[in-house]
Amino acid sequence: MCGIIGIVGVTPVSGRLVDSLRRLEYRGYDSAGIAGLVGGRIERRRAEGKLRNLETLLIEDPLTATTGIGHTRWATHGAPSVRNAHPQVAGRVAVVHNGIIENFAALKAQLIGQGRRFESDTDTEVVAHLIDRELERGLEPLPAFKAALDQLSGAYALAVLIQGEDSQVMGARRGSPLVVGEGQGEMFIGTDALGLGPFTNRIIHLDDGDFVAIDHQRARIFDRAGVSVNRAMRVVPAASALVEKGNYRHFMEKEIHDQPDACQHTLSAYIDPITSTVSSPGVDFSAIDRLQIVACGTASYAGMIARYLFESLAGLPTDVEIASEFRYREPALRPGALALAISQSGETADTLAALRWCKDRGIMTAALVNSPESTMAREVDVVFPTHAGPEIGVASTKAFTSQVAALTALAIAAARQRGRIDAAEEARLAGVLLEAPRLIAEAILDDGWILPVAQEIAKARDVLYLGRGAMFPLALEGALKLKEISYIHAEGYAAGELKHGPIALVDEATPIIVIAPSDALFDKTSSNMSEVIARGGRVVLITDNQGAGHAPEGVNVVIAPACDPLIAPLVFAVPIQVIAYQVAVLKGADVDQPRNLAKSVTVE
Ligand code: F6R
Repeated sequence: MCGIIGIVGVTPVSGRLVDSLRRLEYRGYDSAGIAGLVGGRIERRRAEGKLRNLETLLIEDPLTATTGIGHTRWATHGAPSVRNAHPQVAGRVAVVHNGIIENFAALKAQLIGQGRRFESDTDTEVVAHLIDRELERGLEPLPAFKAALDQLSGAYALAVLIQGEDSQVMGARRGSPLVVGEGQGEMFIGTDALGLGPFTNRIIHLDDGDFVAIDHQRARIFDRAGVSVNRAMRVVPAASALVEKGNYRHFMEKEIHDQPDACQHTLSAYIDPITSTVSSPGVDFSAIDRLQIVACGTASYAGMIARYLFESLAGLPTDVEIASEFRYREPALRPGALALAISQSGETADTLAALRWCKDRGIMTAALVNSPESTMAREVDVVFPTHAGPEIGVASTKAFTSQVAALTALAIAAARQRGRIDAAEEARLAGVLLEAPRLIAEAILDDGWILPVAQEIAKARDVLYLGRGAMFPLALEGALKLKEISYIHAEGYAAGELKHGPIALVDEATPIIVIAPSDALFDKTSSNMSEVIARGGRVVLITDNQGAGHAPEGVNVVIAPACDPLIAPLVFAVPIQVIAYQVAVLKGADVDQPRNLAKSVTVE
């Protein structure tokens, strides 16, 4: 979703504003803009579409400001257009915003009643008007900003520029991320440390509700009540180096290849390879009587896989719910439960809201996150890390497998703590799990099976994915990957559900991708394949060598490395990712920034 940058600089900032926005492109956007103070006045440049359109505009019409703000916009209120692009300006004030101002309609009506004219359809423009109105009433910039913030409800990260204030940018966060960066005689605010990577690695994470004013030398930070506060500065490791594509064509391709390392690093947080013991730092699962997982999209499929493991290995009753629905059914959770959010970004608005709902009811909260400084990480009782490194491709790959790896480790730890397995079995399972990075690497290398399959799938309009047991969530994940980056309609089903409806869709034009390692469920799934073939359907079977030997006549096979069922979700995730990736490349789609999608969904 929207990306924000603000710079109080000593040299012209427009190039650096755009550089930072390029690093925030991964969040998803449909227009971009910057504004700066030139001769004490606000000037802005905005363009619909990709950043190169804004760059072209800046070549034709440069902006010489040394203080400025910039924004990539993912449209919520108002279509993607130059008029609705940020910065939004009213009077002396320019604003960029990530989030949704929920009471904007009432505020807008009130402001129009006071004779103010609006130029855009955005909720953001009311913020600019509110600040400008407070300035007109005679308040100084910072009190005017605070007075405006007090009138807003909803979620926001804001950066604000005020005409006449040549060396100041103000910012605020509530529900959406914002950080401060310290430079040499220059200061920055931005959505995240990655966006500030080219300028500084000295980062201050603001608390929710904080607002800030930066000038050349310092950041003055205030909490929600307006009390001056200090927030710790941290040196973020090599943020700038971590987002290069290297020799890969796309970040998604690179991130698929990053998976062995990402899983290895993640597992090292949970497994001691010397003692072969598995830990769950901060949580004793023997004291937990129910696990409630909340997550969105791909992360929720990682949660579904985890449910199989927590129930079968640890005997721990486990529910998984899509975070956006969780609060609306008033879940009957009692103290004794653990609410576990799974989130790559740690910022997904619905997941955060579900966690807060649990926290307000005295339920212990934990978050499995890839961003250790994220809002979720800062708000929960216990943080479980994944160490996948920054994931830039919008379609999640290495974050997903790292989540599954961590959850598998946690399920083993839970099984041991709850007395379901002894030390020898814990050591055996830890050994199996530690094999996963090598087998994931093998699956990545052995992708020669996939191109002919991808060529078939690329011609399809609809694709079905089937799986049983822990392969069912993978079927859902495979369908999501395909639809989000190649725009082919795809659905995932539990293989046993086929006869309860989806079989009506079977025809020659609808390929069915079946994920079935040679495990205890293989024969049942094989019967489902035969049912499809008997009706003229085309089947692609993702299996191991043994499964391929037992595949029904007429199926097209993709072979993945044979593995223990414990780690099959990790190993079999690779071919489904590679199929989606290759199909998208064949179709010439924008793999890393699919249309309409945002990397971090910070609005509900
Ligand atoms: C799909 C994808 C999304 C995310 C979802 C949750 O490839 O990446 O479905 O999994 O938006 O995001 P996080 O994990 O950041 O909470």
